[in-house]
Amino acid sequence: MTLSRIYFSASEEFLSTAADELRPHFPDAWMEPLGSDIAVFEDEGVSIATLAETIREKQLIFPRHLMRGVAEIPHDETADLGEFGEIAVEAWQQLPLPPKVALQVWQSGDVQLPYRNDQLWHRLAAALSDIDVQVVRGGANHVLGACAVSEGIILGSNGVANALSDWPGGRVQLAKPKGQISRSEFKLEEIIRTNLAELPTEGTALDLGASPGGWTRILLNRGLDVWAVDPGKLDSRLDGKYGLTYVPMLAGPFLTQNVQQFDLVVNDMRMTPSLSAKVMNDAAQHVPTGGMGVMSIKLPPGHPLRIIEDTVAQLSREWDVEMVKQLFHNRHEVTAILRRR
Ligand SMILES: C[S@@+](CC[C@H](N)C(=O)[O-])C[C@H]1O[C@@H](n2cnc3c(N)ncnc32)[C@H](O)[C@@H]1O
Repeated sequence: MTLSRIYFSASEEFLSTAADELRPHFPDAWMEPLGSDIAVFEDEGVSIATLAETIREKQLIFPRHLMRGVAEIPHDETADLGEFGEIAVEAWQQLPLPPKVALQVWQSGDVQLPYRNDQLWHRLAAALSDIDVQVVRGGANHVLGACAVSEGIILGSNGVANALSDWPGGRVQLAKPKGQISRSEFKLEEIIRTNLAELPTEGTALDLGASPGGWTRILLNRGLDVWAVDPGKLDSRLDGKYGLTYVPMLAGPFLTQNVQQFDLVVNDMRMTPSLSAKVMNDAAQHVPTGGMGVMSIKLPPGHPLRIIEDTVAQLSREWDVEMVKQLFHNRHEVTAILRRR
C-alpha cells in the first residue's frame, strides 16, 4: 500500500492536545491516533515540509516528531523477520534513497512482536546494506523509520530537518550521568543537548525550588555560581561545592529580601502555573535585560493549551517568552525559555 500520510508523535498524555494545536492551522486535516503516542495526519496538498515549517514557525508546543509514511505493513506480514526486511526495503525504495541514512526503530504502546526492537533494527540495517545503503543510528540527513503499532509496522522516509527531532519518535534518550542527583536533571540536559536554548556558562544563577539539587549540580558544572533556594535539603554531594550558596527558605520571602543580581533564573517548583509565573516575575526584578529564565510549567488536569496561554500572558509582563516546548523528559508539564526584557 503506497501512502501519502504523515505521522506525528507527542507524549501519550498530550497526543490529542498536539492534534488540537495543529487543527487551527490545518482545519481540513484528518488526524487519528494509531498508537499510544503516534497519530496519522492527512491533508491534501500538505507536505511534511509544510507541516514541519508550521510547527516551527508557530512554535507549537506538543508535536515532537514527524515521519512521512511510505507503507503500513499489517502484522501478518511482519512476523517473519527475514521476509519483513525484504518488504521494508522494497517499500523504502519507492522513494529515492540517499547513500547514507539514519535508521530509527521504535514501538508505540504495548505491541507484541516475535522479535526484539534491536533485532528488528539489525535486520533492517542488513537489508539496507544489501542494496548498498550505509546505515547509522543518527546524524544523517535522511531518516528511515519503522514504528510498530498494534495494527502493524509503519514505515517512513524523510529528511531529518522535517522530522523535528533526530531521535526515534522524538524520544530523546540520555544516559544517566555519573553523580546524577535527580531525574529532573534530564530536563535541563535535554535543553542543552538538543540546542533548544543556549544556557550561559558564566555568571550567577538562581535555582528556585532547587532541592535535592540536580539542576544546581548541572549549573555549577557549567561554570555558574548558583544560589539554590528551597526549604528542602540539598543532596550531601553538593556540600561545600565551590560557587554554591544554599538558601533554605521559600522563594517568595527570599525574593523580597534579596539584593543579588542573577544572569539566569531557573524554576522547577511544584506550584500552580499562575503562582509560579508570579514568582518568576518577582525574580525578574533581580535580572538585568537580556538575562535568561527557564521554567517548568506544571500542568494540572484539563485545558493545557488555555493554561499555557494564560501563563505566557502573565510572564510576558516581565519576560519575552522565547519558547514553550514539551520536552521528552517533561511529564505533566512543559518548559518555558524566557529572556528578560
Ligand atoms: C521537582 S522538585 C525540584 C527538583 C530540582 N530541579 C532538581 O533537579 O533536583 C520541586 C522543588 O520545589 C520546591 N518548592 C516548592 N514550593 C517552593 C517555594 N515556594 N519556594 C521554594 N521551593 C519550593 C520543593 O521543596 C521541591 O524541592
